Amino acid sequence: MLEQIAAIVKEAGEIVLSAHDIAAHTHEKSSAADLVTEYDLAVENFLKEKLPPLVPGAIFYGEEEQENADPATGWAFIVDPIDGTTNFVRGLRQSAVSVALAKDGVIEYGVVLDPYKAELFSARRGGGAFLNGSLIHVSDRPLSQGVFGMGTAIYRREYLAPTMRLTEQLFRRSCDFRRMGAAALDLCNVACGRTELFFEYSLCPWDYAAGSLLVTEAGGVISTLDGQPLAFDRRCSCWASNQVNRDILRELDIR
Ligand code: IPD
Ligand code: CA
Ligand code: CA
Repeated sequence: MLEQIAAIVKEAGEIVLSAHDIAAHTHEKSSAADLVTEYDLAVENFLKEKLPPLVPGAIFYGEEEQENADPATGWAFIVDPIDGTTNFVRGLRQSAVSVALAKDGVIEYGVVLDPYKAELFSARRGGGAFLNGSLIHVSDRPLSQGVFGMGTAIYRREYLAPTMRLTEQLFRRSCDFRRMGAAALDLCNVACGRTELFFEYSLCPWDYAAGSLLVTEAGGVISTLDGQPLAFDRRCSCWASNQVNRDILRELDIR
């Protein structure tokens, strides 16, 4: 199953790489910060055609079109066709195709592709996490020697102040931080030890479904900022970490 999903995701990556004149194919959704391109729709339509036949009865829960069904019941593909759309529109080449397959709200398979670096992150629950077929593991660096990633919860501006407060607290304890603009890749960066931590105050299931399995299968931890399990049928916050820094959140003000 993992190989079959990965093969389809790689084909979807070709659509991302084929993109040209992206600005002319971009539309605003709710605001200038909330964009969709014709490539997001093309990738999603491609995945919607190819993935469900792999698992009869599975629903398709994609960012651009959520079927009127509960992704926390039965089999569900949870899909972000292009995570990092703003990066994509601006030619920053830091975007991903993210596909998870969940059963009854538990992620069983996760695949995240960075088509620009030709990096395919994949995991099966209980089977370890891989980057282009090689086993990956979270880092063992303490935050004092580490770098963390964060996201700005762009669609929920009410989280601006707590986001900046938490960023400042972590920055004071770390070497540096990054705001890369694609949450699925932010989680994969924790999984393969390129960063030590990642947080964002509000994300959608398609942003973190696949990446969350990468983190846990790579030996890391992931939860909401208040320590609850992630939800896959609604938005929530995200806190991903290696083992060394897993309890640091208790010492921080997250309000
Ligand atoms: C966004 C990216 C971004 C994160 C936003 C997400 P999109 O996804 O993952 O890094 O900060 O919260 O919505 O809209 O580019 O698929
Ligand atoms: Ca996304
Ligand atoms: Ca997206």
